Amino acid sequence: MSDRLPQGEEKRRAVRGLFDTISPRYDLVNRVMTFGLDVGWRRTAVASLRLPGRSLVADLACGTGDFCRELQRRGYRAVGFDFSHGMLVNARTGAPLVEADVLQLPLADGGADGVTCGFALRNVVSLGGFFRELGRIVRPGGRIALLDASEPDNPVMRAGHGVYFNRVVPLIGGTLSNKDAYSYLPKSMAYLPGPAEMVSMLREAGFHDAARRQLSGGITQLLVGTRS
Ligand SMILES: C[S@@+](CC[C@H](N)C(=O)[O-])C[C@H]1O[C@@H](n2cnc3c(N)ncnc32)[C@H](O)[C@@H]1O
Repeated sequence: MSDRLPQGEEKRRAVRGLFDTISPRYDLVNRVMTFGLDVGWRRTAVASLRLPGRSLVADLACGTGDFCRELQRRGYRAVGFDFSHGMLVNARTGAPLVEADVLQLPLADGGADGVTCGFALRNVVSLGGFFRELGRIVRPGGRIALLDASEPDNPVMRAGHGVYFNRVVPLIGGTLSNKDAYSYLPKSMAYLPGPAEMVSMLREAGFHDAARRQLSGGITQLLVGTRS
């Protein structure tokens, strides 16, 4: 992938190809890159759902199934959706997995009690379209918990994080997996709108109480909300 950030159909194809390529070692690189913190972030996200036991939760852009496993551990019924065949083939979860684009889900209106999504907001071609799809599939009273990377507010932490994310992550990813892919991931942060805009987009999509929390000093953000 070149330095220019692709848009539209070109982005869709590039993102799918990228995750197909890195899928065999995705879990390993994730654990090393985040020092295992990603496990705790998913736990926090699932705990924030606060839905009744056995609720049906769609994990969107499920990748290799980490969220699905955590959802099942907490007593939810999980179904994973992802458009990368490679990620689904390398998934380690007993939950049913569906190969689909999260912008056009094969789910009925109000068909899900909840949604989780990990580290994919900057990957979709249209974030507004994705949030509208959440508004469509989540039933009134249902909950969402969305994680993505973020920049810390504290300037010192932000500088350190910038060096780590832009220099060290591509090095680790390049050594263990694929250099181009892990150079693109930090750059793809540019696709993400600011926190206030994302919260406002979620409110417009029907999640009246949408809110954002920072995790681990602000290197990750959690967006939560209840469907009106
Ligand atoms: C960084 S990985 C995250 C995987 C997993 N959620 C996790 O927490 O580890 C991003 C995932 O989003 C998927 N993805 C990106 N855009 C998608 C789309 N439009 N439809 C379905 N999956 C998508 C990719 O295939 C990839 O598996």
